[in-house]
Amino acid sequence: MAELTPTEEKPTRAYVIHPDLGRARTQRRMPERSLAEAVALAEALPGIEMIGQEVANLREPNPGTLFGKGKVAEIGERLKQIEAELVLVDGNVTPVQQRNLEKEWGVKLLDRTGLILEIFADRARTREGVLQVELAALSYQRTRLVRAWTHLERQRGGLGFVGGPGETQIEADRRAIDEQMTRLRRQLERVVKTRTLHRASRAKVPYPIVALVGYTNAGKSTLFNRLTGAEVFVKDMLFATLDPTMRSISLPDASGGNSGRKIILSDTVGFISDLPTELVAAFRATLEEVLEADLILHVRDISHPETEEQAGDVAEILDSLGVDEDVAAIEVWNKIDALGEDTRLALRRTDARTEGVQAVSALSGEGLDDLIAAIDQQLAEVLDEAKTEADLTLAFDDGRRRAWLHEAGVVESEGASEDGLVFHVRWTERQKATYEAIGRTSRPKRDYLDD
Ligand code: GTP
Repeated sequence: MAELTPTEEKPTRAYVIHPDLGRARTQRRMPERSLAEAVALAEALPGIEMIGQEVANLREPNPGTLFGKGKVAEIGERLKQIEAELVLVDGNVTPVQQRNLEKEWGVKLLDRTGLILEIFADRARTREGVLQVELAALSYQRTRLVRAWTHLERQRGGLGFVGGPGETQIEADRRAIDEQMTRLRRQLERVVKTRTLHRASRAKVPYPIVALVGYTNAGKSTLFNRLTGAEVFVKDMLFATLDPTMRSISLPDASGGNSGRKIILSDTVGFISDLPTELVAAFRATLEEVLEADLILHVRDISHPETEEQAGDVAEILDSLGVDEDVAAIEVWNKIDALGEDTRLALRRTDARTEGVQAVSALSGEGLDDLIAAIDQQLAEVLDEAKTEADLTLAFDDGRRRAWLHEAGVVESEGASEDGLVFHVRWTERQKATYEAIGRTSRPKRDYLDD
């Protein structure tokens, strides 16, 4: 990847071009909107200063320079005037086109795949996600070894001199990349093998997982921060062992008290249209937790002119990830504050909405109480279905497990016999697993419950 994280303090001056294929266009979207989206994506990168943007007509891609001669010169003139250092082309650019344009314009150039790779690299959280992104980045770089290229060594350090005598720099670089890719693939295999173990330990987390998904810029992080930071929630405890974007919170009960259900809220990377195919695996890995969610909140920017297209893209991606259609989901129509007063009020009236939809503003907080109630209700339905009953006998002095049972709220009745304390419980599979883990370990597992 191009080195976008500047070591110097000065931000990189970036210019975004969306090539418009005109009538040959296959995209559903308007070129101006695609451009705006590419700009928003680019702005998410650290160390970037956006200095301009344009839609450039492209009737027939030129194999050598992508754009025609006149267009190249015209854009080049503009870039010179505004002293652009980095050009982001919102489409595919071949390595040859990249080299020629970089030379012609005197800039560094990234295409859409390169841009999204940068963003994934910035956001990958899980070990598998990080490895998949590195792998995708390397295979992208491998195709671009047409110019003198040295930053692999600098980035990863310690690769050093790998070429034998007589090898060209490119062959040596390519070999370094291949070796690095082999290493990464081996590490990935190991990670995937241990994933089952991770699942088992995840199952010990006693609370249901609620995952936020949605198109980029829909407001997921704003909602996440609202929900995890708001005063109505008692405790905002970070699970050190979990992903940094997962937090455990307590939903207030109906009367506004603090005895409500505990959940784990999980934020995810934003979805985008036209995800380059070579990035699908990396994207999938960054979304692993969605596959384990008990409830999915699909956050939509309802004020966006292309909100329907975006929702379609999200549904398609979830489907391709293998997210079960039966998983409970709530559509959160966000940014209602950005709508006209009449529409906003109409959306807030339950009868004007589709079932399973909640209209909110993560920014102003409007509608969040109803959303919380809906989450609570949906989870009650999901979890109740999966509850089973059991009879347990505990030693009289097993205060720790007795306390856990009561704290988890699973006790239906409690008595005593000659053998010890007798309980009749109703619990979910997850609660059962947690309880059994207490039995197996010498250390108490109460850290999940210590609020
Ligand atoms: P990605 O990280 O790209 O996936 O975006 P995200 O879905 O996490 O969106 P984020 O929370 O970063 O919000 C994107 C922009 O929308 C920010 O500028 C927010 O301030 C704005 N935003 C979020 N919620 C609302 C809302 O309810 N109303 C309005 N008007 N703006 C909002």
